Amino acid sequence: MKKIMPENIINKKEKQEKIIVLTAYDYTFAKILDENEIDIVLVGDSLGNVFSGFKNTLPVTMEDMLYHTKAVANGITRSLLVSDMPFLSYHTCLSEAKKNAGLLIKAGASAVKIEANSSQVETVKAIIEIGIPVIGHIGFTPQQVYQLGGYKIQGKTDEAAEQLISLALNLEKAGCFAVVLEMVPKELAAKVTSALQIPTIGCGAGPYCDGQVLVTHDILGLNQIKKLKFVKTYLNLDQQISQALASFKQEIKEGLFPNDDYSF
Ligand code: KIV
Repeated sequence: MKKIMPENIINKKEKQEKIIVLTAYDYTFAKILDENEIDIVLVGDSLGNVFSGFKNTLPVTMEDMLYHTKAVANGITRSLLVSDMPFLSYHTCLSEAKKNAGLLIKAGASAVKIEANSSQVETVKAIIEIGIPVIGHIGFTPQQVYQLGGYKIQGKTDEAAEQLISLALNLEKAGCFAVVLEMVPKELAAKVTSALQIPTIGCGAGPYCDGQVLVTHDILGLNQIKKLKFVKTYLNLDQQISQALASFKQEIKEGLFPNDDYSF
């Protein structure tokens, strides 16, 4: 199977084929996603919540992202591996941003994702100019959770909607190969999707985007503490794990494991 490149992701929009994106933070999950033909495997900074148990993504460091990117890269043969640039890795100056994006590529990513507001467009452009493909992330951007006043739907007023469309167009002009739209009304996502030549990937942005992204742990039911409206759970893996653990404990206590089948 041929390795997916950013241009293949753009072509999917032309062919009206939906783009499927899921997160991975380790080798085991990356390998399963890759084998199941997930188009983009994202080493999201959501690993701060899901892997490390922080209350938001702000504590995630470049070191964390590099460690997890290397692990995920070991499991990828076909999918496009995209890594998030964590908070403060691209905000201070252009040279720092370019260097950090480059380090993620050296660790095994084929592209990076940046949570962008209008002041980050120049940074995005500078990273693309050194040959690194970029996905822009707009709408609700978790790294700005305090400024945005919490986990809130974005683009609800006419003015905010216009600003979002114009930011998406500026990111396309800067050279992004896709844009993630997080927590925006579906009608606005539809407008952005038809305004752009590059694909939109929705995360709580309704059905009219060119692709969809969710956190793998969420769709598998491994992270059911905080239920988000836009997350659909396809398995109750936490319950299944509890059942397996109960059986394991029980069999050991009853002397049923390990029997001869599992002994030398
Ligand atoms: O960090 C992440 O996992 C993300 C996606 C959910 C879009 O940014």
